[in-house]
Amino acid sequence: MALKRLLTYADFRDAARKALPAPMFHYIDGGADDEWTLSQNTDAFGKYELLPRYLKDMSSIDTRTRVLGADLAAPIILSPTGMNRLFHHEKELAVARAAEKHGLMYSLSTLGTSSIEDVAAVKPGPKMFQIYVHKDRGLTLEFVDRARAAGYDALCLTVDMPVAGNRERDIRTGFIMPPRFTPASFFSFAARPGWSLNLLRDADFRLANVAHRQDALGESAMGVIAYVNSQFDNTVTWDDVAAVIEHWGGPFAIKGIMAADDARRSLDAGASAVMISNHGGRQLDGAPAPIDCVALMRDAVGNELELIVDGGVRRGNHVVRALAAGANAVSFGRPYLFGLAAGGEAGVDRVLKLMKAEVRRTMALVGADKVAEIGPHHLTGQ
Ligand code: FNR
Ligand code: LAC
Repeated sequence: MALKRLLTYADFRDAARKALPAPMFHYIDGGADDEWTLSQNTDAFGKYELLPRYLKDMSSIDTRTRVLGADLAAPIILSPTGMNRLFHHEKELAVARAAEKHGLMYSLSTLGTSSIEDVAAVKPGPKMFQIYVHKDRGLTLEFVDRARAAGYDALCLTVDMPVAGNRERDIRTGFIMPPRFTPASFFSFAARPGWSLNLLRDADFRLANVAHRQDALGESAMGVIAYVNSQFDNTVTWDDVAAVIEHWGGPFAIKGIMAADDARRSLDAGASAVMISNHGGRQLDGAPAPIDCVALMRDAVGNELELIVDGGVRRGNHVVRALAAGANAVSFGRPYLFGLAAGGEAGVDRVLKLMKAEVRRTMALVGADKVAEIGPHHLTGQ
């Protein structure tokens, strides 16, 4: 279907489902255990009813803001997601280019299939590198130095994966990296000739930022669960985080914080932001929705720490609800990944264009012509 016919998250999800072999689609779409947290992440926005305030001059709406030391065209960050080559041959570079065009912050994952430097070359504007601490601890310091040299604005450290979550869809589909035709997935590959032909044309699925240090998915294919459980260092504590932040010395977010008390500790460790996140419902099933954690956290840290709501954001009105509840910005993953799968850079471009237009329209409709004007007075019951 032509990209311009796609309007909603559901439209892009359907288009991605048609473009991708089943293991790749379900790897993006799925969550942990019963996927309760995954559905809560979006459903919980329903509790934050927007209260419009009319009769203000809404002839010009300014969606710009400043987060993590960078000027953004809107309070939107593209969350780090691994292995984008699985979803489209234009991979992370397509996402970074589209984010650049729209003036938004792009986050590159440790598990990206594009390098820190290659992304920087196409993304001169706001960008962040996301760190997973590997057992090879030397890698972490190397990431910090390379991100600095390549001009990244910020770093984030993901802390919600001491072990991999239980993603049963991936077990059922036989999801592995690099992809391989298995009996369980053969028919879905055969039914997606476009994707499968591109696999033969360019089959470089290496994890571009870790492959040089270890046999990371180099020799043998394995699932994400096996990779995480064998390569990630789950002895990391607050002291280690403080040391990484000190080595970096710039804007730093801890990603995966949900408890108000941990937000306080993040501040003490030297972080400038937290990404309130349950990893898009892919880790601890039963965790609350990020939007439901904002108010308590804001009470605990005041304005000293930037709060980014990561998870479940599907509409511009979700962005405005998050800001009204006390967040500085939002972040999302699946919406742009489905855009990437549906149409490469053009698909991501369309997702971001629609999202920005929705934010702008929602701001006008609630009566906030600037980001700083959005507040608790835009919610019922406040
Ligand atoms: C992720 N996420 C993630 N997070 C991270 O810190 N490093 C990573 O490599 C990845 N990889 C990844 C792959 C895929 C396919 C998905 C869907 C997600 C989590 C991501 O950063 C973010 O927290 C969630 O995607 C937010 O939820 P929504 O917006 O997808 O609902
Ligand atoms: C995931 C890892 C890669 O969520 O972060 O699949």
